[in-house]
Amino acid sequence: MHKERIILDVDTGSDDAVALVCALLSEDIDILGVTTVGGNVELKNTTDNTLRVLELCNSCDIPVYMGAELPLVSTLVPWGIQGMTLPHREILGDDKERVHPHHLPLPPTTLKANEQRAPLWIVEKLLQMPDRSVTIVPVGPQTNLALAIRSDDRILKKIKRVVMMGGSHDVYASTQAAEFNVWVDPEAVEIVLSSGLDVTMVSLDATSNAYLNYEQAAQIRAIGTKQAVFVADMIEQRLRASDNNLGKTKGKIVGAALHDPLAVCAVVHPEVLSEIWDTSFHVDLGRGYAYGETVLGRNYTVIRDKQGHQVDLPINCHYAKKADSKVFFHWMYDLLLKTKE
Ligand code: BDR
Ligand code: CA
Repeated sequence: MHKERIILDVDTGSDDAVALVCALLSEDIDILGVTTVGGNVELKNTTDNTLRVLELCNSCDIPVYMGAELPLVSTLVPWGIQGMTLPHREILGDDKERVHPHHLPLPPTTLKANEQRAPLWIVEKLLQMPDRSVTIVPVGPQTNLALAIRSDDRILKKIKRVVMMGGSHDVYASTQAAEFNVWVDPEAVEIVLSSGLDVTMVSLDATSNAYLNYEQAAQIRAIGTKQAVFVADMIEQRLRASDNNLGKTKGKIVGAALHDPLAVCAVVHPEVLSEIWDTSFHVDLGRGYAYGETVLGRNYTVIRDKQGHQVDLPINCHYAKKADSKVFFHWMYDLLLKTKE
């Protein structure tokens, strides 16, 4: 059976944790390694959380590589070197109340990350692989991938495609303009979007469109295995955090988005995505209010070639605007059901 070979780049994180569980359980996916990056919480926590999830899934043989602690240029990291603009729910509260706990509610693990750092490992590993054979799935800030590309551009031809969680057009979570993963390291995402790679953006618009609810969390919990109970806990944690913070002002919400597993789902079930724009997106790097915004190339930007003929803007990504929550939920549910066997 053909399996998608992937490198999963995570900042674990509640939804990253669910993405990991799903990728580890999927028989359609072969994980070459997991790389970690600072993002939802600090690098030491994203790495420790990642290792805890591997142990939960009895996947202690999957190698983990710690990557970049800080973004390439930006200093607006969520744990705050400078002033920050994230909604309070991202940073405040104890681990049970936060969207992303510092320590996932899983037993401490003795598993360790490898000595080699993620960007160097990505380069070394990819250079050993056949051309266009590996899908990179970044579901956090893209510092590791950007560093790898800048270190050795021969890796570009080894990459089949990038399926990233990030970017937004209509929904802006972290600032008035930007989605979190892009906002943390805007320059890194721009490097990836300008690299010529085949990039699918599983946007915040799409993930917000495929939210899960308490009833679905209960269905998953009823499977009863430790992996299913953990995933149900994570969904409920996200629902609670959203209720606590948005409910007061906007009425009770109906569900919570599980952003990162949707990107993993899209690797093996592309039909989960819809309204896909083959278009040009770039990242605002202006360091103003729109820093980190993914800016859509619109038609009023007329480009002319040397002969004065109008040419289309080069397409640099497939931007998914919508997703099917039923396909998404059933994929996740069926994977977890297999943990009963
Ligand atoms: C993204 O930001 C993080 O909070 C999540 O893990 C997800 O990758 C959504 O904007
Ligand atoms: Ca993430």
